[in-house]
Amino acid sequence: MTEPTEWIDVAAEGEIPPGGFCTVDWGRTSIAVINADGAYYAIEDLCTHEEEVLTNGDIEGDEIVCCRHGARFSLKTGAALTPPAYEPVQTFPVRVRDGRVEVGVPE
Ligand code: FES
Repeated sequence: MTEPTEWIDVAAEGEIPPGGFCTVDWGRTSIAVINADGAYYAIEDLCTHEEEVLTNGDIEGDEIVCCRHGARFSLKTGAALTPPAYEPVQTFPVRVRDGRVEVGVPE
């Protein structure tokens, strides 16, 4: 994860329920901001196996499961935890500021 130079507004705090998510576009990248039991994580919303949208799958604790072939990714680190995905997904920092959830992106 690189140091953010810009923070993108995502949602009001409380607008993303536990186990839920919200997506924002950053250029051509879709970023999913996920509430995993009260902790926010942000990942690129694209499986590194065959480019399925990850938020089409299930969020289980601090992991997300790709709906196409079942690869699991860590929401904390982006690591691919099970085949058939081996490459990690990009992660982004998340902060809550003045009641707003924001995701940090590099310039
Ligand atoms: S596309 Fe995600 S596991 Fe294959």
